[in-house]
Amino acid sequence: MLSLNNGLKIPAIGLGTYLIKDRDVCKQIVAQSLRTGYRLIDTANAYQNEEYIGEVIENLHEFGLKRDDVFITTKLNTSDQGRGKCRTAVLESIAKLRTPYVDLVLIHWPGVRGLDQSDPKNSELRKGSYQDLEDLHSEGLIKSIGVSNYMIKHMEELLNHCKVLPTVNQVEFHPLLYQKELLEYCEGKGVVIQAYSSLGAVKGWQILSQNETLIKVAKKYERSVPQILLKWGLQHNVCVIPKTSRVENLKPNFELYDFEISKEDMALIDALNSNTRFCWDPNNIV
Ligand SMILES: NC(=O)c1ccc[n+]([C@@H]2O[C@H](COP(=O)([O-])OP(=O)(O)OC[C@H]3O[C@@H](n4cnc5c(N)ncnc54)[C@H](OP(=O)(O)O)[C@@H]3O)[C@@H](O)[C@H]2O)c1
Repeated sequence: MLSLNNGLKIPAIGLGTYLIKDRDVCKQIVAQSLRTGYRLIDTANAYQNEEYIGEVIENLHEFGLKRDDVFITTKLNTSDQGRGKCRTAVLESIAKLRTPYVDLVLIHWPGVRGLDQSDPKNSELRKGSYQDLEDLHSEGLIKSIGVSNYMIKHMEELLNHCKVLPTVNQVEFHPLLYQKELLEYCEGKGVVIQAYSSLGAVKGWQILSQNETLIKVAKKYERSVPQILLKWGLQHNVCVIPKTSRVENLKPNFELYDFEISKEDMALIDALNSNTRFCWDPNNIV
């Protein structure tokens, strides 16, 4: 668990659900993750699976769990940015998730679908979205507010106007994209970084799994490369949300507390940084 700047706590490990669009696969993996011990599920309006996750959330008692035992994150779609629109979209997400509240809502992306990256309306609309989230927060419908894919410039703008501090910034973060400056900036402002694509996403997994340094470190600790990638994130004080649709990956991706990567080996992995992105790049969004 990591502490958020609003006094609440967030599990350090969660289940990512991007690309899990099949109802049965989604329900099965979410259910099995809860049985394995996962207590955070990461979804988004854009993933088109909130409804299926809601069907599991509604029946948490089947797992011996209560609603407040589980942390649910969802995200505002790029097409729903702006005052009013954001509120409607988040209320729809909450309904689909069949829950009285969501633990964390993130603005998925600093940009707006259909606008040029250089259009100043991007900034105006994401500000409106944040104000809607502040209202929903004060009404108790969302416990924490966060952002995703915000660079330092987007964070600075937000910290200038927000009334409720963002708790989390979810960004692409793995050894080939060790966003050290952003991590230190967010840490300095009390904002937790939550890593996505820790295993390189679909595109980068082959590259990371064949990396010689990572293979060497994995052998040394008698762990798999995915476990080293996830532990590297945790030891940088970031949360991780590995995605898997395969039940057999759930346990290894969660059992990360019985070993520690040494300082020297952390530095070896840090040095792999090449600013390589496998997902989208928010740098040019004004
Ligand atoms: N905010 C954003 O803009 C954003 C962007 C991307 C992702 N995310 C969130 O972050 C989550 C994770 O990121 P990601 O989906 O890009 O993928 P990831 O966690 O980097 O995983 C990449 C791939 O690794 C495979 N995998 C997982 N565990 C494994 C293991 N133990 N051994 C071998 N392969 C394994 C998975 O395939 P299998 O399913 O076949 O196991 C998955 O497709 C997403 O699901 C989503 O919730 C957010």
